[in-house]
Amino acid sequence: MNRVELIQSIINKKKITRYLEIGTYKGQSFFPIKCKRKVAVDPQFNIPLKRKLKWIYKDFNNLFNTYAELTSDDFFEKKASLVQRFKPQLVFVDGLHTFKASLLDVLNSLKYLSNDGVIIMHDCLPPNKAASIFANSFKEAIAMKLEGWTGEWTGDVWKTIVYLKEKYGNALKVCVFDSDYGLGYIRVVGNVDDFSIDEAIFNKVDAMSYDTLMADTSLINLKPVDQIYNTIES
Ligand SMILES: C[S@@+](CC[C@H](N)C(=O)[O-])C[C@H]1O[C@@H](n2cnc3c(N)ncnc32)[C@H](O)[C@@H]1O
Repeated sequence: MNRVELIQSIINKKKITRYLEIGTYKGQSFFPIKCKRKVAVDPQFNIPLKRKLKWIYKDFNNLFNTYAELTSDDFFEKKASLVQRFKPQLVFVDGLHTFKASLLDVLNSLKYLSNDGVIIMHDCLPPNKAASIFANSFKEAIAMKLEGWTGEWTGDVWKTIVYLKEKYGNALKVCVFDSDYGLGYIRVVGNVDDFSIDEAIFNKVDAMSYDTLMADTSLINLKPVDQIYNTIES
């Protein structure tokens, strides 16, 4: 099961009508997702008009999409009233592939998420050590010419899952499905009202390495892909 299939099954099961995507690029995940209202955030979309029109033809709901050409930090700051009114029910976090940026994306999403909302994160299970390297962009990661580089880059997004598990153990249900570079699943099950970053937890998690994760994948509550349906049903 890939990210689009997972997101669509949650949308269908929960009858979700409001979808927010952080990190859209060409719209490979954004366009095929069938949902009444969709908002896309990316500082650099790569969507020619022809592609937009093709997807409107395929699914008329794509006519009503909103595109915010901003970094996610700017989006949550400058478009706060939009996102507050929109009140997303499902957020897909697939923007900048760093621990700090993905954590901020999740924390900002949690502020506006509807009560029974879900956050899905891409890239929570690096396929190899080189793919897990910290960099400020894909270009920067390529330029490092790392040994074992395969052209895949998940960065250290996985650390966000470790952080959330530790900080919000009682309020969030968090796991990663072993599919499509690790699909993080975050569901609110309790009260989350502290959206600040706990520096002690952040620094402890940030000091972890790819080898730490490989030695103990329970850090991200890694689950086989066949547990997806049980988890989203429960
Ligand atoms: C891996 S691509 C997204 C792919 C898409 N979700 C899909 O599944 O095909 C990551 C995107 O994140 C965007 N991005 C980079 N920095 C960002 C930021 N600070 N805020 C939001 N998006 C960002 C990049 O421009 C890029 O288009």
